[in-house]
Amino acid sequence: MFVTSRAEHSGVARPRPLAMTIRTLHWLTAGLLVLMFGLAWTFDALGPSDTGASLVALHQSFGLLILVVVAARIVWRVTHPIEPLPGDTQRWEMRLATLVQATLYALLVAMPLVGWYASALSGDTIRFFGVALPDLVTMNEDRSDQLFEIHATIGWAILALTALHVAGALNHQFIRRDGLLNRMRIW
Ligand code: HEM
Repeated sequence: MFVTSRAEHSGVARPRPLAMTIRTLHWLTAGLLVLMFGLAWTFDALGPSDTGASLVALHQSFGLLILVVVAARIVWRVTHPIEPLPGDTQRWEMRLATLVQATLYALLVAMPLVGWYASALSGDTIRFFGVALPDLVTMNEDRSDQLFEIHATIGWAILALTALHVAGALNHQFIRRDGLLNRMRIW
């Protein structure tokens, strides 16, 4: 069945897509996150091996790329006000959505920084797609292990908040049918 939005039924205009820049950065972040978790779970399952080491190196490079993408998103977000949520959105829903999004931004900055620091403490030279970054810290394996535990915990928090974020988007799309997803459409 073809699903039309409540906004269309009521004659109210569907929310307009946000700027192409922020939509591109949004879906780039989503794609990179899928890749990052895929790489992490694969090298974890493989254990110490040449393939595992190559996947860790890829994970490190793409993880640093996420840091750049998220930094660009934050700069864009604070310099470009966006339209508020549809008028019938409850105040608590707006607060929850803002809290989830702000926490996700914070965790998406913390995650690569912790991963980077933990890797450096383990004695790794970190490379960004082959280009070696300066070694700034002295090796400390205990500290590195602690930080990798934090890295894993932040990973679960990112997954949980992403699930909430997606649930909110699906609620708008299929239950409220207010066409909000149109703001982030890919094409
Ligand atoms: C948003 C970006 C990132 C995400 C979502 C992410 C996600 C993950 C996850 C889910 C794991 C597996 C944790 C576990 O269960 O043990 C992991 C492990 C790891 N990450 Fe990341 N990561 C990110 C960025 C980085 C960066 C930037 C680096 C380094 C420059 C890095 C280095 C590592 C390493 C070396 C491990 C293996 C740790 C071990 O030996 O147990 N990560 N990452």
